[in-house]
Amino acid sequence: MSRRKVIAGNWKMNNNPEQTKTLINEIAPLVSGSKSDVIVCVPYVDLAAALETVKDTNIKVGAQNCSWAVSGAFTGEVSAPMLKSIGVEYVITGHSERRTYFGDTDVTVRDRTRAALDAGLKVILCVGEYLEQREQGVTAEVCAMQTKIALQGVAAEELKNIIIAYEPVWAIGTGKTATAEQADEVCAIIRATVCGLYGEAAADDMIIQYGGSMNAGNAAELLSKPNVDGGLIGGASLKANDFAQIVKAADESL
Ligand code: PGA
Repeated sequence: MSRRKVIAGNWKMNNNPEQTKTLINEIAPLVSGSKSDVIVCVPYVDLAAALETVKDTNIKVGAQNCSWAVSGAFTGEVSAPMLKSIGVEYVITGHSERRTYFGDTDVTVRDRTRAALDAGLKVILCVGEYLEQREQGVTAEVCAMQTKIALQGVAAEELKNIIIAYEPVWAIGTGKTATAEQADEVCAIIRATVCGLYGEAAADDMIIQYGGSMNAGNAAELLSKPNVDGGLIGGASLKANDFAQIVKAADESL
């Protein structure tokens, strides 16, 4: 069985619209013709510039969050239908920085995921354990729980619009990558969780990325693992050459 590979850049709170155009124009020729899916998830204010710049390329554009509500009194939020209306294709939900700094919970992640699907967006759903939880031996339980809650109310036929990203919090932005074995092990646990909920075929089809200090040097090994179907890349996605190297590693792992 062979799943496609998906490499997504998570730019986090970096780059203005001008810088967005420049970086995408640098990345585009380096990844054109890639067999893997290539996505850049940019800040809200850069979405229009990104969408304009990716025209005639194989790069897709995502946002980094969306509201659980469609509209209304939610100051500072952006809704999934708003993202859809300007042509955005993907949205990240449940990133650990949202959970840690902005109060996202398993339930609001579920509701944001639901809102994104309802609006016709594709979701990159992030799950992952804190270092303390890994040390307590509850990584499997935490990741299974986050996955199960986020998928509450998601129908089997909607799963094709969901990618799950396993992002151990201790590996994000720290330069401390999970070993390929650790990444594979937890991606397999998440796949087993999907299997428990939706059955084997759904689990076999699910794209599960690894994220957390993935870079040009370690991508090939991580992406060679059977349960790792791609990467969600933070720091290294801000450098065109590094990001393109990761896309190349994904292609070579197919
Ligand atoms: P990092 O971030 O690659 O900088 O560790 C990954 C992420 O937060 O998605």
